[in-house]
Amino acid sequence: MPYHTLLEGILGRGIMANWRYSMNTIITHILTRRSVRSFTEEQIRDEDLDLILQAATLAPNGMNQEPWHFTAIQDPETLRKLEEKVDGTADSFFYHAPTLILVSIEIGNAYEKEDTACAMTNMMQAAHALGLGSVWCNRINHDPKLGVQLSSFGVPEGYKVTGTLAVGYPKGAYSSPRIPKQGTITYIRS
Ligand SMILES: Cc1cc2nc3c(=O)[nH]c(=O)nc-3n(C[C@H](O)[C@H](O)[C@H](O)COP(=O)(O)O)c2cc1C
Repeated sequence: MPYHTLLEGILGRGIMANWRYSMNTIITHILTRRSVRSFTEEQIRDEDLDLILQAATLAPNGMNQEPWHFTAIQDPETLRKLEEKVDGTADSFFYHAPTLILVSIEIGNAYEKEDTACAMTNMMQAAHALGLGSVWCNRINHDPKLGVQLSSFGVPEGYKVTGTLAVGYPKGAYSSPRIPKQGTITYIRS
């Protein structure tokens, strides 16, 4: 379905006649991104990975401390070993994506959750804008012990993994835009 038709569905009839919205690719991408959980085996381009990581490093962060590190794993053997370390997964916790990005934050940083969310969002949006799919995979950051034991996987000592992003080319049809829950917005106007 063309983007414009999708956006009309989300935002209401007539909105795409306004060029400020219809020509705005950032808005379009934000409104149409979905989590992708099925990937082709094809590896993503190096230039695309670099852009996604640049987007992460430019995310807003508390007091501009940039307390993060990004580890991009593309080696299948390393991914297999990481999979082994993660308990309780019946199948691949990152859906067999060809690229997995670990976001880690200096232990003790006051803004670890906020900074991680900003970096992850930037990466998800950048991936989507480049025609790639991604999904936040919670498994490592939910395990306080595991998150600090991954120096052999390129996570710096003194950092803990706070977010994990699977990235690759979507396999099959891309999901339709989500219809957001109603009643989550309040306007207070004079
Ligand atoms: C903090 C966070 C943790 C998530 N963890 C997982 C996960 O472990 N596995 C997964 O398949 N999706 C995970 N997701 C993706 C959400 O399920 C998804 O964003 C949500 O269902 C909304 O769908 P959408 O991203 O397609 O709009 C996570 C998302 C966030 C923000």
